[in-house]
Amino acid sequence: MKTIITYGTFDLFHIGHVNLLKRAKSLGDHLIVGVSTDEFNQSKGKSTLIPFEHRMAILESCRYVDTVIPEENWAQKADDIKKYKVDTFVIGDDWLGQFDELKAQCNVVYLSRTKQISSSSIKQALQLLSQLDKELG
Ligand code: CTP
Repeated sequence: MKTIITYGTFDLFHIGHVNLLKRAKSLGDHLIVGVSTDEFNQSKGKSTLIPFEHRMAILESCRYVDTVIPEENWAQKADDIKKYKVDTFVIGDDWLGQFDELKAQCNVVYLSRTKQISSSSIKQALQLLSQLDKELG
């Protein structure tokens, strides 16, 4: 059995996330997803509209995902790879080269991102709409 692992925040779950998870799962048999906790995001200066428990539940309901775990810090990837006997670490190519040190432990695959969609762009669109609503209302 081939085990794949990936990590992310997965706020406002969108088609870019679906494409990434579908392609990650196609590389093996069992896909583990580490979901960044609200505290970990805070330490990165990142905030989400969707709380951690909801983001976990959404990923658990995705057909490509077999196991969901919390991602609590940067250092845990190396431990998880050992613990879950991971064959391949996958992440979008916005992180290209940044996890090459994991190549000592398993395959590292950077997948191309889906163009023109991100959690940030959805948040920006929502902000614009609420601003327009205020200005017009
Ligand atoms: N991802 C992707 N294509 C996109 C957006 C995200 O393949 N259009 C991938 C990322 O490369 C990462 C995973 O999905 O491997 C989770 O990314 P995340 O940071 O949660 O999503 P983003 O939409 O990029 O969020 P943000 O805008 O906050 O950076």
